[in-house]
Amino acid sequence: MTDQKRAVRDGYDQLASEYDARRSDDPDFLDEFRARLPAGGRVLDAGCGAGRPVAETVAREYDLVGLDLSREQVGMARERVPDGRFVQGDMTGLPYADESFDGIVAYHSVIHVPTEDHPTTVREFSRVLRPGGHLLMTIGASEWEGRNDDWLDTGVEMRWSVPGPEESESMLEDAEFEVVWRRVVDDELGGETCFVLARKSTGANST
Ligand SMILES: C[S@@+](CC[C@H](N)C(=O)[O-])C[C@H]1O[C@@H](n2cnc3c(N)ncnc32)[C@H](O)[C@@H]1O
Repeated sequence: MTDQKRAVRDGYDQLASEYDARRSDDPDFLDEFRARLPAGGRVLDAGCGAGRPVAETVAREYDLVGLDLSREQVGMARERVPDGRFVQGDMTGLPYADESFDGIVAYHSVIHVPTEDHPTTVREFSRVLRPGGHLLMTIGASEWEGRNDDWLDTGVEMRWSVPGPEESESMLEDAEFEVVWRRVVDDELGGETCFVLARKSTGANST
């Protein structure tokens, strides 16, 4: 495991409760994502954190699987969302079969993955998603790489690797995704962030 992944995992183990308390609302893009899912479909929440807002919302209608690097986050998600199934794991190597999900959400999580692992992560999302399935993901509004040794005033270190939006889109396209839309929004924990909705190609000429 790289230093960055270890720092992120250990960091969230230590500050999971503080992050949960400070977690602000995102614009509601989940409705648009859910409208594109088949009834009762299987959805992966990649970097699910403590299960809010994605897992708890999606699990009401769909088969929800959450995965997170941090054991503490997974524990909180299990308590919050008893209908979901949660595992501790690394999204750069997903423990799931090819084309086994109808949709994937990755809110504010891929931005912690080391730069060199971003293309692998997006390819993993494509591998486990069925053709025509959708990915709703937070990407960076601008390129940035860094760390904060006192994140959220907890004295805990956190690290991020954020490619620019054009680079993220290019990685998605290389992994057989078509970008449906990209939207920049304010991030209450600092600056701006960006969401992208992408659809895995079916190999046919369809939208
Ligand atoms: C900022 S939190 C976001 C949690 C939740 N998705 C939300 O929207 O509040 C980022 C989460 O991504 C997880 N994470 C970071 N890198 C990961 C990786 N390589 N594999 C799985 N989870 C990861 C962290 O442990 C953390 O729980």
